Amino acid sequence: MSERILIGVAWPYANCDLHLGHVAGAYLPADIFARYNRAAGNEVLMVSGSDQHGTPVTISAEKENTTPKEVAAKYHESFCRSWEQLGISWDLFTTTETDNHKKVSQDIFLKLLKNGYLYKESVKQFYCSSCKRFLPDRYVEGVCPNCGAPGARGDQCDSCGKPLNGIDLKQPRCKICSTVPEIKESEHFFLKLSAFQDDLLAWVSKQKEEWRPNVQRFTQRYLEEGLHDRAITRDLDWGIPLPLDGYDGKCLYVWFEAVIGYFSASIEWAERKGDKDAWKPFWLDKSTKAYYFIGKDNIPFHTIIWPAMLMGYGDLNLPYDVPANEFLTIESQKFSKSRNLAIWVKDYFERYSADPLRYLLSINMPETGDADFSWKEFVRRNNDELVATYGNLAQRVLTLTYKNFDGKVPEKGELDEASENLIKLSEETIVKVGELLSHCHFKDAIRETMDLAHAANKYLDDAEPWKVIKVDKEKAGSSLYTAICVIAALKTMFYPFLPFSSQKLHEYLGFDGKVEDAGWKIVVPQEGQQLRQPSVLFTKLDEKIVDEERERMGIG
Ligand code: MF3
Ligand code: ZN
Repeated sequence: MSERILIGVAWPYANCDLHLGHVAGAYLPADIFARYNRAAGNEVLMVSGSDQHGTPVTISAEKENTTPKEVAAKYHESFCRSWEQLGISWDLFTTTETDNHKKVSQDIFLKLLKNGYLYKESVKQFYCSSCKRFLPDRYVEGVCPNCGAPGARGDQCDSCGKPLNGIDLKQPRCKICSTVPEIKESEHFFLKLSAFQDDLLAWVSKQKEEWRPNVQRFTQRYLEEGLHDRAITRDLDWGIPLPLDGYDGKCLYVWFEAVIGYFSASIEWAERKGDKDAWKPFWLDKSTKAYYFIGKDNIPFHTIIWPAMLMGYGDLNLPYDVPANEFLTIESQKFSKSRNLAIWVKDYFERYSADPLRYLLSINMPETGDADFSWKEFVRRNNDELVATYGNLAQRVLTLTYKNFDGKVPEKGELDEASENLIKLSEETIVKVGELLSHCHFKDAIRETMDLAHAANKYLDDAEPWKVIKVDKEKAGSSLYTAICVIAALKTMFYPFLPFSSQKLHEYLGFDGKVEDAGWKIVVPQEGQQLRQPSVLFTKLDEKIVDEERERMGIG
């Protein structure tokens, strides 16, 4: 039975290029899931966009001596190039700077206000008399009231990891001009999160069967500690203004409007395709399943705050699953922009192609625990698994067939037991892999697929069609036919992970159109089907790149 699936993916801040942590954390798993579901015949809408507002962007603009608008536009461009190179198959990747997003965010604000879920309150805040403005959390620095570490920001201390309440910071300084700020009152709107405590608990207990243990535990604990109302406006002018008079210089808090992006982007997608109601089944039909792919640091916004906003708004679908990933370390070290401990997507593509990266990040995905990326492992997996196992299998079978059978799929003939078994194994594997993918078990799914490639190689080594062909062409043809069936299965099963090489293989096998359109099943090439001239799927990497890349990161 076909399903309808909404896929929301975390909106990256438009103040920094994408690195492998982003890819492994949210974008790759979302893309795998979208590609699988489309192939399986499900209706998919995958949306996101760049998160352009808030202090992350204004601070970068000040550092780069330019305007927030320019910074955001620059990184948005860079994201779009990276998606193209990585093969992330968005239905829409937009931005929070559109008029549509502004309108939808303001509507939601007003509806929540009307429904009684927002209230005004005056709060104490730092004010810099020399900059003449209220200081957003990230604009104040001082000593952490919890652990005493210097250099804590108003919103968080990186030393002890605790979120802070801005004015508790000791020895505060304005980050821009170093003046000691004073404390002043400022009026803000609060979201009555506490009103949703019981409904959220009931909803989470119902959903959590499907959820990953880390997401489940985190959310449960958060709820049991009791929800506090949260300010959803800020004293800042880079963002979406409040749709009310008398609030100049205040904006919707960046997180409040960013999560609304999932909804506004769906509306924009519908408008762009000229069917303005097309978003409705995705948000209003209760049988739709909404998935949110995010990194673990974003969990509370997607399992608590966004669901509460949706409940307060009414009618819109709540998340079905929030398969948050853990972190990716690089060469066993924590990502650090300042220490250059990062691999930037745009640098990667100066030297390598997408599928080897997608392969490593899938088979070693930080799904239920942190995972490490190392160049050594990158080279090993590429050479031993993609080149020597999968690539070699396809190459051997296709070139042998192409040369000896007139470029056509040989006759099936009489299958021996080993051939029957291998075909049966492929049929079982594609079902199993589909099952794993539909439950977001990406790592297991790609492992099962690679195991089938191993089994096919072993089969070929035993059958030795390159030898048999000299004495019994029919028998060799039958083995090659069998191997071609398995390759046809593999190009489908690998497709969500390795879309570029699967498409190539699809064409070498003589098929037209997109792999995805052929469905999540083994489409066996017909006997006599014309193949296309095969070429290599993957290329071997030189071991020496391990040292070169490590040196580039300064960890030679
Ligand atoms: N911009 C945020 C970050 O990079 C993520 C926002 S996800 C959203 O951490 F859903 F709120 F958009
Ligand atoms: Zn100042």
